[in-house]
Amino acid sequence: MRTAGDLADGPVDTADHQYADHSTPLARAAEHTVRARYGGQLGPALPRPEATRVVVVANQKGGVGKTTSTVNVAAGLAQLGQRVLVVDLDPQGNASTALGVDHRRGVPSTYDAVVEGTPLAEVGVACPDVSGLMVVPATIDLAGAEIELVSVVAREGRLAKAINGHPLVGTAAEVGDERFDYVFIDCPPSLGLLTLNALVAGEEMMIPIQAEYYALEGLGQLLETVEMVRQHLNPRLKVSTIMVTMYDGRTRLAQGVAEEVREHFGDQVLKTTVPRSVRVSEAPSYGQTVMTYDPGSTGALCYLEAAREIATKGAPT
Ligand SMILES: Nc1ncnc2c1ncn2[C@@H]1O[C@H](COP(=O)(O)OP(=O)(O)OP(=O)(O)O)[C@@H](O)[C@H]1O
Ligand SMILES: [Mg+2]
Repeated sequence: MRTAGDLADGPVDTADHQYADHSTPLARAAEHTVRARYGGQLGPALPRPEATRVVVVANQKGGVGKTTSTVNVAAGLAQLGQRVLVVDLDPQGNASTALGVDHRRGVPSTYDAVVEGTPLAEVGVACPDVSGLMVVPATIDLAGAEIELVSVVAREGRLAKAINGHPLVGTAAEVGDERFDYVFIDCPPSLGLLTLNALVAGEEMMIPIQAEYYALEGLGQLLETVEMVRQHLNPRLKVSTIMVTMYDGRTRLAQGVAEEVREHFGDQVLKTTVPRSVRVSEAPSYGQTVMTYDPGSTGALCYLEAAREIATKGAPT
């Protein structure tokens, strides 16, 4: 068995899992660090979904961890060997920043796809640090889209059209091995036309919930919106994943919130909670996800575990 010291000495052949040691947290951390540093994939490959899973990450409450969860779960899945596309649908462009892609005004972006009808494949770029991860950046132009879209025909279905028209989105039979396994859409903190476009485009929703006092406030409104979308625009939409973020296990408040969320949502809640961690919040200022910034940190390992859980659970039926 290799020790953490051996692992740190050099790259590990990614096809060779005989050295993969998941028996201790330290070994796991070391393995993730080494493989992430050398661009390798982690652990035994996960099964690929039969068709692209389009996951909408939404919660109209601001600052609950939507973007952080989107980019880290997406990067984690890519590190686990899945092919992933992140669509930044927030004019703030935080997901673009964290994934290290240019989102200055003028670069091809989500705005072009949603408002101008440019094919999505023409506006995607590769994330420089994580292989298998593509990004459609958001520029500040997207801020105008909420208003510009009002007068556009089929204004709620623009993103769905763009995603479904992507040549790498679809089933194994239609698209083949090149297909994306996941498309994650990072929504802005509102229930406006952009978020509505996302809810029409996806089959699955991931709702991050911050483990703090007001966390559940506003969830009712979000779930009502989801129900409205199901009835009128997208019957396939399901809340597949609730993720408790910024969890501080030392406080009774966080434990209480997590318990309440679990009572309410049962199996939809991921077993993995994401702790509050300085490394997670520092990563974006280096244009990185925590998955490459500090792959051995608790935050990175929890996001990796969450990614594994999402993949293993599979698409909702
Ligand atoms: N696990 C964590 N530990 C520490 N800080 C975190 C964690 N998750 C998120 N943060 C920080 O909390 C803030 C809000 O997170 P994030 O931007 O992901 O939320 P958001 O829901 O996307 O926000 P917005 O509604 O503005 O889009 C950020 O500064 C982020 O770095
Ligand atoms: Mg955000």
